[in-house]
Amino acid sequence: MDKILDGKNTAIQYDEEMVQTIASLKQDNVTPGLAVIMVGNNSASEIYVRNKKRRAEKLGFNFEEIKLPESISEDELLNEVNKLNQRDDIDGFIVQLPLPEHISEEKIVNAVNADKDVDGFAPYNVGKLFMNDPKQVPATAKGIMLLLEKYNVELDGKNVVIVGRSNIVGRPVAALMLNANATVTVTHSHTKNLSEVTKQADILIVAIGKSEFITSDYIKSGAVVIDVGMNRVDGKLSGDVDFDSAIKQASLITPVPGGVGPMTITGLMYQTIEIAKKRANAKR
Ligand code: GUN
Repeated sequence: MDKILDGKNTAIQYDEEMVQTIASLKQDNVTPGLAVIMVGNNSASEIYVRNKKRRAEKLGFNFEEIKLPESISEDELLNEVNKLNQRDDIDGFIVQLPLPEHISEEKIVNAVNADKDVDGFAPYNVGKLFMNDPKQVPATAKGIMLLLEKYNVELDGKNVVIVGRSNIVGRPVAALMLNANATVTVTHSHTKNLSEVTKQADILIVAIGKSEFITSDYIKSGAVVIDVGMNRVDGKLSGDVDFDSAIKQASLITPVPGGVGPMTITGLMYQTIEIAKKRANAKR
């Protein structure tokens, strides 16, 4: 009867597994090292970084937050990126976005060593993902795949419809689903007759940033529904899916909050540990 894809509880299960992996890495004198570069004080970014720090420290990571002033020059920031590229104790790092306007995000993202790019934003990693040989991928996309895996949701041969084509969710999820042998459709703001397309979905993934846009009218009976939305409406958090309506049709559905959100950080931690494992193997 329980239709909830519980991201909060699944994240705790992964945490338990990751704690054990980290304990075994300690035997090789490796502690996973994760750094976040944070420029200026964007209040949303500060909350994201605080949540990452909390989880990383709870798991036993070596976590470093590098706080830099809004006024930092592009060259100075590139220099900070290069320092992290060269540090052996840092397995992965991210530069929290958005950056101030005088800094080119593209230049900074391109400067991150692809081996340490735990955001999966570097063009090399985007290419590897699309060539079905993924290394690190964007954390939300990874988190969704990890969530579906724990619930044993079959992907092979299934119709997956994605609503939204962003670089951080829609496109990487599409590539991961294709790699998993799903039949993938990506819809977006120019898609005609959206509900007719979404009603074909065995698995529907929604990442459009429009509060409670997807109702039961968009969902086939028995579909699995993944809501990536995080909208603040009148101080209340809501998803892109109208949960109370959608649950009537869905066989499984993620709530907001407590669905994809907690799994995003899991995706980041999981991938950093994978890199740390390679560091430990290289020492053997
Ligand atoms: N800002 C909001 N989400 C993200 C993310 O996934 N990675 C980075 N680097 N910045 C973000």
